[in-house]
Amino acid sequence: MYSLFFPFCPLAWSGKRLLKHPESSRTGIIYSVSMLILNKTARVFSTPSKRKICEFLRSFHFHPGKRLFHKLVLGIETSCDDTAAAVVDETGNVLGEAIHSQTEVHLKTGGIIPPVAQQLHRENIQRIVQEALSASKVSPSELSAVATTIKPGLALSLGVGLSFSLQLVNQLKKPFIPIHHMEAHALTIRLTNKVEFPFLVLLISGGHCLLALVRGVSDFLLLGKSLDIAPGDMLDKVARRLSLIKHPECSTMSGGKAIEHLAKQGNKLHFDFKPPMQRAKNCDFSFSGLQHVIDRIIMQKEKEEGIEKGQILSSAADIAAAVQHTTACHIAKRTHRAILFCKQRDLLCQSNAVLVVSGGVASNLYIRKALEIVTNATQCTLLCPPPKLCTDNGIMIAWNGIERLRAGLGILHDTEGIRYEPKCPLGVDISKEVGEAAIKVPRLNMKI
Ligand code: KG4
Ligand code: ZN
Repeated sequence: MYSLFFPFCPLAWSGKRLLKHPESSRTGIIYSVSMLILNKTARVFSTPSKRKICEFLRSFHFHPGKRLFHKLVLGIETSCDDTAAAVVDETGNVLGEAIHSQTEVHLKTGGIIPPVAQQLHRENIQRIVQEALSASKVSPSELSAVATTIKPGLALSLGVGLSFSLQLVNQLKKPFIPIHHMEAHALTIRLTNKVEFPFLVLLISGGHCLLALVRGVSDFLLLGKSLDIAPGDMLDKVARRLSLIKHPECSTMSGGKAIEHLAKQGNKLHFDFKPPMQRAKNCDFSFSGLQHVIDRIIMQKEKEEGIEKGQILSSAADIAAAVQHTTACHIAKRTHRAILFCKQRDLLCQSNAVLVVSGGVASNLYIRKALEIVTNATQCTLLCPPPKLCTDNGIMIAWNGIERLRAGLGILHDTEGIRYEPKCPLGVDISKEVGEAAIKVPRLNMKI
């Protein structure tokens, strides 16, 4: 039996030592070929030691019968600062996942430096893919397809995931499914909840801010977006300006999470920041004006308290509470208008419409509560994926691959000419039409 391994097994070639594999010879061959391919693919990025591969092989056990009729997708995400991978089956079972977050490194440098992010993706992608596969007990040859984020995102980061994936699919002779990062965020809810199309989605993260109607797996209407920066970006900048990294309770948190944490200790009424774009009756957003107002307030407070830039203000918690409240009100108002627009045009169910909120900022419970006030007032159901699935992850990419496989959409058997796209809009942009409708939003009592 073991002689069958011999021609394929990288260990047999290199170390002249055969591993006693726990499973049948067929599975063993599949496994060995697959690992050779994964190993060969990874070599372009870094050369894993033979010892590491040996350890990995030993920890591998198969249950091939269980998965015989299931579609299995490996999802790979590298669009920003997380290297993530997951294996998901067609029923939405997450068989294995792994993630390497670069947050700590970028917190130290005061923001993401693309070449640094690229280098960290390169150093981690092979390990992360191996960990996800290993946890899932799926060999690469058993996969139905590989799905990878190719748009939008940081060019250097997207490039690492794409070239790793292309080598993998070309050697495995598997289909490739290119994924739009924001579509993946939007569809994640269908993995955790039974949600039918159409539904409204609000995506709020560090790089994106948009409201869209999801009519199908690749059928989106863009209702509004941020005209400048995303809310997560603004919260990150405010947190940095407040030097929250030096705060003992917040030093390892992302900017947004640090603001949420500190806001609980502050009084939002100590500062009165006006919500942005109050006169524009559309569903667009803006956060950079608010950020500049807060910058000025911080400067003024530093003068008053006689402290240097870089030290923590005594009013930091009050500022955090006020910025979080203003952000929540702004997001809630634009979302309220989007719901009213969709209902007015019969784009959403009148009585049982669903609003999905996702992206890193969606894990903010204060913002969720503000949105709950809106959905209660409009008889909608508010759904959020669990916090772990709101931020970037490999599961959402694998799941989008499953959705596309099931719908028969965007499955490539030839990857010739496939490129990553750092900028890529989501769906058909009808934001101008939304603005022309000029829907007046009734005032709600935002007691959060
Ligand atoms: O979706 P994500 O992981 O990455 C992209 O931007 O695509 O989102 C990260 C963003 C960061 O700006 C981070 O500060 C923000 O989400 N964030 C939060 C919270 N947790 C993460 N913002 C507000 N409240 C939070 N609890
Ligand atoms: Zn994201």
